[in-house]
Amino acid sequence: MQSLKLPVLITKDTNQAKEALVAKEIIAIPTETVYGLAGNAFDENAIRKIFLLKNRPLHNPLIVHIKSVDYLKEIALDIPIKAMVLANHFWPGPLTLVLKKHPKIPDIVTAGNNTIAIRIPNHPLTLELLNKLDFPLAAPSANPFGSISPTSSEHVANYFKDELKIILDGGRCAKGIESTIVGFENGEPIIYRLGSLSVEEIEQVMGPLNQRIHNAESPEAPGMLEKHYSPKTPTYFTDDVAALCKTFKGNKIGVLLFKNKILDADIHQQEILSLTGNFQEAAANLYASMHLLDQKKLDVIIAEKLPEIDLGRSINDRLERASKNRIIT
Ligand code: TXA
Ligand code: MG
Repeated sequence: MQSLKLPVLITKDTNQAKEALVAKEIIAIPTETVYGLAGNAFDENAIRKIFLLKNRPLHNPLIVHIKSVDYLKEIALDIPIKAMVLANHFWPGPLTLVLKKHPKIPDIVTAGNNTIAIRIPNHPLTLELLNKLDFPLAAPSANPFGSISPTSSEHVANYFKDELKIILDGGRCAKGIESTIVGFENGEPIIYRLGSLSVEEIEQVMGPLNQRIHNAESPEAPGMLEKHYSPKTPTYFTDDVAALCKTFKGNKIGVLLFKNKILDADIHQQEILSLTGNFQEAAANLYASMHLLDQKKLDVIIAEKLPEIDLGRSINDRLERASKNRIIT
């Protein structure tokens, strides 16, 4: 007999979300950065489902979401003093710390690494959910591997409505790009991934920081090596959008701009990230604008490079990866 497939339930009810997780299912959860595909971090089978659902290579480790700074010692060992300073200062918030892994976390979560990535997400619904659970949640961003991250429950439903039973609906993500990842070497913090918490904000607490943003020479976060955050439409990244538009004359062009419109009759669709030039607003709008442009059946998307300061750097990092091999300077 064929089983009847129920449509995905988009709900704000954390009890239903809890029930599904306890039954070893995977659900989508909201965070302040992007939505995640969450499962019990202690349950190897649940974690395997996440990798399958996302079509994510098993060598790319997941972030584990916890409910309190106190809980850190349950899943991490030898925590450096500076990690505690950062955790106390920025959690709940868009900062992920890479620490030594506790043996009770299954190896599949960390892709066999002896380190584990951990954060407390700053979203009221997900914090409410975590406080009802006696396990932490492993959750990568809720998008198929390599594609644009989701910042609304609609984005998640567009990707996974046939595979998920529950999306916990927390509205639009306030921060809009993934957490900043910080690892430690000899107790000293190093930035591994740019994200929603700017380097400047972390440096205000820690002083000048070393950065080792992932590239082919420094595979600390393997997921950052591949082409990532990518629209299906060919995407270019440049600091002179108007000039590049001219070279694509005759094509159906969409542009993704920081704050100023362009006067060019050939442009089919313009997305402005922040009319006032506010980096935080631009970050919050980035993925929604990319999703929108990608649905417009354009020939090409041309994205503008932002100033290399503050969250401008994080946004540029994502656009550069989205347009891998199509960067025009
Ligand atoms: O904001 C976020 O961080 C979102 C929300 C859902 O929390 N999550 C997220 O997860 O962006 P994901 O899986 O899309 O990206 C996690 C990144 C990957 O690049 C992965 O390689 C890196 O974290 N990572 C995970 N564990 C690591 C570890 N032990 N050492 C270094 N990098 C690690
Ligand atoms: Mg991701």
